[in-house]
Amino acid sequence: MRIAVIPGDGIGQDVTTEAVKVVRAVGDVFGRTPELEFLPWGADYCLETGHALPAGAFDLLRGFDAVFVGALGDPRIPDMRHVREILLGMRFELDLYVNYRPVELLDERLCPLKGRAPDDVRFAVIRENTEGSYVNIGGRFKAGTDDEIAIQEEINTYKGVSRIIRYAFEFAKRHGKTRVCMADKSNALPQGHALWQRVFAEMAKDYPEIEARHLFIDALAMFLVRDPSQFDVIVTNNMFGDIVTDLGAELQGGLGMAASANLHPGRTSMFEPVHGSAPPLAGRNVANPIGAILSAALMLETIGLPEQARAVERAVKAAVASGQVTEDAGGRLGTRETADGVVTAIRSMTPA
Ligand code: NAD
Ligand code: IPM
Ligand code: MN
Repeated sequence: MRIAVIPGDGIGQDVTTEAVKVVRAVGDVFGRTPELEFLPWGADYCLETGHALPAGAFDLLRGFDAVFVGALGDPRIPDMRHVREILLGMRFELDLYVNYRPVELLDERLCPLKGRAPDDVRFAVIRENTEGSYVNIGGRFKAGTDDEIAIQEEINTYKGVSRIIRYAFEFAKRHGKTRVCMADKSNALPQGHALWQRVFAEMAKDYPEIEARHLFIDALAMFLVRDPSQFDVIVTNNMFGDIVTDLGAELQGGLGMAASANLHPGRTSMFEPVHGSAPPLAGRNVANPIGAILSAALMLETIGLPEQARAVERAVKAAVASGQVTEDAGGRLGTRETADGVVTAIRSMTPA
């Protein structure tokens, strides 16, 4: 097993260091540690070399079993060019069409909603990850003048929409979930999102045992706050999935808790916390490493080490339950000490 590790920028580096410690610990205990290769791509590399990625970067990545990313984004590159080239580049070039973002409340204390228990906040967002308004098709005319015209197209293809909706239903089936909700904005965007409506209605017929519900994205945001327990699986487009997963992260205790997997089943996939590089927190030993650690667990699961993944999840749950976490999650520990606690818990485990 070979894993490419891209710590990236800001707290991406802080949390990646800790996630790597956890991967090594669980490998030691369970007898199989993937080989980790660090790639220095990020703002420093971009500023030093003048390009975000070396030639052949994506071919290089295809040679690994998985890619782990911390976060990208640095105020020295205000147009975020390198973020798009690296992060969106991987999603597009490796055709990672599923952005799987599980939302799971690990402890009642972490939920900002009144009276909500872990059972109430347990759903998965299946975000389309290769098209929508992220494709950067468009342009500007008379830029910088009062006559400026800015066009940014949104792309919805039959292939893209059907494969993500199919994945959502299959995911639900595989995990014994009975409800799939598709969210779009077909009332205001009747061209692109009519395609989502059609495909969803057609595909739902293949899954009579699953309740297929449609919501407009604005109503979904409202219902997620009012009562998240009504959702099992949410499938939506690239942009809406981005927004709704920050909302979801907050329901589970904040961005620092949220994990994600960028998947193309059967191919090299990429794993990263949902949060960004949070420049104000960088290098201060305050960033919550749990989102990154849980993303590493998703990676272990995907590359065929499910026992290791479960062990990491158990150790994280124990840390959260005992309040041995960072301040954003209600604890008093630093980034390193939080991960050390997880590592200690893992080292005390005995493999089955
Ligand atoms: P952000 O996620 O970096 O931070 C927003 C706020 O969330 C932070 O100020 C902090 O209060 C909190 N937060 C985030 N992660 C945390 C953690 N691990 N522990 C504790 N608190 C945490 O979002 P932003 O400020 O909008 O973006 C900063 C940069 O990151 C931008 O350049 C943006 O483009 C980039 N970004 C990158 C990714 C990625 O690489 N996947 C994701 C989102 C944003
Ligand atoms: C995310 C991020 C990215 C996105 C940005 C950094 C381009 O917000 O992974 O959620 O919008 O997908
Ligand atoms: Mn986001």
